[in-house]
Amino acid sequence: MKIRKAVIPAAGLGTRVLPASKAMPKEMLSIVDKPAIQYIVEEAAKSGIEDILIITSRGKTTVEDHFDRSPELEKKLLDSGKLDVYNEIVNITKLANITYVRQHETKGLGHAILCAKAFVGNEPFAVLYGDDVILGENPVCGQLCEAYEKYGRGVVGIKEVTVEQIQKYSSMKLTPLGENRYEITDMIEKPKPEEIFSLFSILGRCVLPPRIFEILENTPYGVGGELQLTDAMKTLAREEGMIGVDFEGRRYDMGSKLGILEAIVEVGLSHPETGAAFRTYLKGIAQNL
Ligand code: UTP
Repeated sequence: MKIRKAVIPAAGLGTRVLPASKAMPKEMLSIVDKPAIQYIVEEAAKSGIEDILIITSRGKTTVEDHFDRSPELEKKLLDSGKLDVYNEIVNITKLANITYVRQHETKGLGHAILCAKAFVGNEPFAVLYGDDVILGENPVCGQLCEAYEKYGRGVVGIKEVTVEQIQKYSSMKLTPLGENRYEITDMIEKPKPEEIFSLFSILGRCVLPPRIFEILENTPYGVGGELQLTDAMKTLAREEGMIGVDFEGRRYDMGSKLGILEAIVEVGLSHPETGAAFRTYLKGIAQNL
């Protein structure tokens, strides 16, 4: 079944990147000249997604403004003959049909996904975490949708991380299926060292069947007093198995200070406008590091 819908949870408090995220959603933090969430919407659109629901919360209205028309600005750009920028600005509003719903309390990623129940209805859907930007030739959301279409089971994007990182993320129990795909039969959120199944963790993307809502409604609040999406996916993995895709693409965690720096440096280096001058600048300062 073709995946047409995506949910982007963007209602978190972003405590790891304060004070930047106090009045400005972390999903709106810019990588050179584009906010993080625009890269994510572009990835979904390139993957064939038509309808997107963004989960927002108080203080996140700039997200809605960003994907809306801006008549005054557009007129100004047209009048001054800046056609390229005009087209770029207008095209942002045409990437997909975007709607919004508010998560009234930040009770975790699982709780945010539950807010998408009416939008999703009875079909599988993709989830793209609003602070995880993944760049590459082949959009990761599309790589996961392909796997869902082939196996007809929930799919998670996975990557190997370090022993230190896995204790802050999730750990997958898995067996290889060939190429970059794995069968997942169990998982655990924020494992203690003795609970680690493998160093493969879910990073930023999944495709889920609509049954996840019923599971979420019956999942108790977990680590940190939050409703954890991983806990619901664990039930799904144990009951019917899930597929892990060790995806191609470079991931930047825009919810962390180091992730933001890495994204700006790497995108800045390949940016048509800044690339050459930025490379020269970096080489200059690297000599004294
Ligand atoms: P994170 O756990 O990275 O977001 O969730 P956070 O809670 O903002 O992080 P801290 O405070 O820095 O630790 C991953 C994604 O899920 C969204 C976030 O906005 C982020 O894009 N999220 C998280 C929600 O939409 N609602 C929530 O209740 C929690």
